[in-house]
Amino acid sequence: MSSSPQHTFRHRDSSPAGAPGRKRSQFTYRHLHQMATFNTSCPLRVIAHLDLDCFYAQVEMVRLGVPEDKPLAVQQWQGLIAINYPAREFGIGRHCTVTEAKKLCPELIHQHVATWREGLEKWAYHPDAAENIATDKVSLDPYRLESRRIMATIKGALPHKLQKVEKASIDEVFLDLSAQVHAALLERFPELANPPPYDDASEQLPMPSISALDWQADALVDLHDEDWEFDDPDWDDVALLVASEIVRDVRAAIKNQLRYTCSAGIARNKLLSKLGSGYKKPNMQTVIRNRAVQRFLSDFKFTKIRNLGGKLGEQVKQAFGTESVSDLLSVSVEQFKLKLGDDTGVWIWNTLRGIDASEVSSGTQIKSMLSAKSFRPSISTMEQAARWLRIFAADIFSRLVEEGVLENKRRPRTMNLHHRHERQTRSRSSPIPLGRPLDEKTLFELAKNLLSQIVAENDVWPCVNLSLSVGGFEEGISGNMGIDAFLLKGDEARAHRDESKTSLAQDSRREAYQPTAKRRRMENSGGIQRFLTKREPSGAGGDTSDVMPAGGLPEEDLSHHQTITTHEQTPITSHVCVRCNANVESPEALQSHTDWHFAKDLQEEERVSQTFANRQAAAAGSSRAGGQKPGAPAGPKRPGRPKKGAERGQSKLSFG
Ligand code: CTP
Ligand code: CA
Ligand code: CA
Repeated sequence: MSSSPQHTFRHRDSSPAGAPGRKRSQFTYRHLHQMATFNTSCPLRVIAHLDLDCFYAQVEMVRLGVPEDKPLAVQQWQGLIAINYPAREFGIGRHCTVTEAKKLCPELIHQHVATWREGLEKWAYHPDAAENIATDKVSLDPYRLESRRIMATIKGALPHKLQKVEKASIDEVFLDLSAQVHAALLERFPELANPPPYDDASEQLPMPSISALDWQADALVDLHDEDWEFDDPDWDDVALLVASEIVRDVRAAIKNQLRYTCSAGIARNKLLSKLGSGYKKPNMQTVIRNRAVQRFLSDFKFTKIRNLGGKLGEQVKQAFGTESVSDLLSVSVEQFKLKLGDDTGVWIWNTLRGIDASEVSSGTQIKSMLSAKSFRPSISTMEQAARWLRIFAADIFSRLVEEGVLENKRRPRTMNLHHRHERQTRSRSSPIPLGRPLDEKTLFELAKNLLSQIVAENDVWPCVNLSLSVGGFEEGISGNMGIDAFLLKGDEARAHRDESKTSLAQDSRREAYQPTAKRRRMENSGGIQRFLTKREPSGAGGDTSDVMPAGGLPEEDLSHHQTITTHEQTPITSHVCVRCNANVESPEALQSHTDWHFAKDLQEEERVSQTFANRQAAAAGSSRAGGQKPGAPAGPKRPGRPKKGAERGQSKLSFG
């Protein structure tokens, strides 16, 4: 750790921690010890959220050796999917097409994403990719690979035995730093290692023997309430301070080893730390002390809070006629329960107060992978479709390799193919045979077989969308047990064979991802769990799906579908539209929802070209640094930055 204790803390004059008249901490010895076990109800827990700045853009800058101050954007067909901070200064955002962006900033470097191309073994950066929208397919593999290196760097920068790291998306992680901070506290404040008075863990701790906390360059959330500010720092403040040093070191490791900058939020839970990482960007970290939580949250619309961006947020908005956190603080938990059901009501009530006991879960794993393409113009032959299936198979296989399929760590058990003709979606699924190593060719043959079954029906051409997915992941046993670990025995094998037969004979409109009985129960009960889904743009390994725009409109990966299991929650299938965060029930619903966006985009096309001139004028007149993503429906809006004067006052708390 870079900072020495002397530098960070000024210790109080020595007086016995338990001396009479001395104020005691609001925390107990039990609370302190709970930190060591990552206890989620520990009031001293410290969680960090790291989010890479303009991630795909940084990957391209590092790969191409582009200097940090040069404007660069990542292009997908005619649209932009990532914009670096220098380019944002020109008012360029995800809403821009390449042509529009070049008008705003003629020297903009626009690098097209890598694509899969028929006949080639692997994805590559093709200079003519943008002109080959009908025949290329986007590959996000370069970003996934970098994402893995970043994860490895983060893990390498933290003590092996005290770390808990959850990959939350392709460019985000949560860290539970409680155990590491606990160890650091005991080392720096030897008085904490003393047994509690009377050996009673519910005894309050002595106050920290510190006269000042030096938050260095961190952004501290403004309190607007002097009284709170002059309360002595307690152990929660000190714990956050130690955590902020750890996070600064982790960020330095990422920068030094990989050349990427990221922003971070440090707070008592995931909800707050996630909001914190987006508070100041790029290359900043924000600390939300417990005393600042309510003040911090009241600046946000609640729809910006994790899990409230989609359907649930909309429901709350409808029910109470407001989007403001402050407005809803006067709503009682009973009122929430009445309108939203017991679980959801309680959950919302807590969330608005910054209460969140969700676990940082290092066991998060991908449960399905999908590769898809929408065709504009549509395709009309088996040969054309088969060419795409070959690309999907290669795409999925390369991700399976990352998941450890070659080492038999994990292996999918089922494959699904969706085929869309006009308004009708047909799908077929089949088991992925066990007993032999899985390879690209096997995936392709299976997919082709599924396609043949669909093609055997009438009226399947032209096809406007094909999507291939694998799921039902099974943990293998890595090492010398080899492939036998995947062989089924006895009853299980029979059950699997029967399941396969019925699965193949299924009705064509059957959902590819049958909800489990468990999931159905959850949905019927209407509980909060159905809203607590993983959403991640361009998933950590989830899906790639690209849709062709008809008129050079901004494009992004529209359909992201994946299931993730975490230790803390039951597996839930999530179908989230990354454009508006809507949660839909099935891949088909997601597809029609996506189609709706597509139609709307076309409708807007003329309007966009008209209003673009106006926007340019507006951008020229505004001094906004471009930290936000104008026009992006799902893009998080950042609240106003804290006032400079107030912040300076926060940067040092002097007591003494
Ligand atoms: N992404 C995307 N489509 C979206 C949202 C995100 O393709 N609708 C990709 C972006 O290209 C991005 C990465 O996912 O680089 C991470 O997204 P996000 O963190 O939201 O944005 P960043 O580009 O990293 O920008 P920021 O600095 O604001 O985090
Ligand atoms: Ca990011
Ligand atoms: Ca992100």
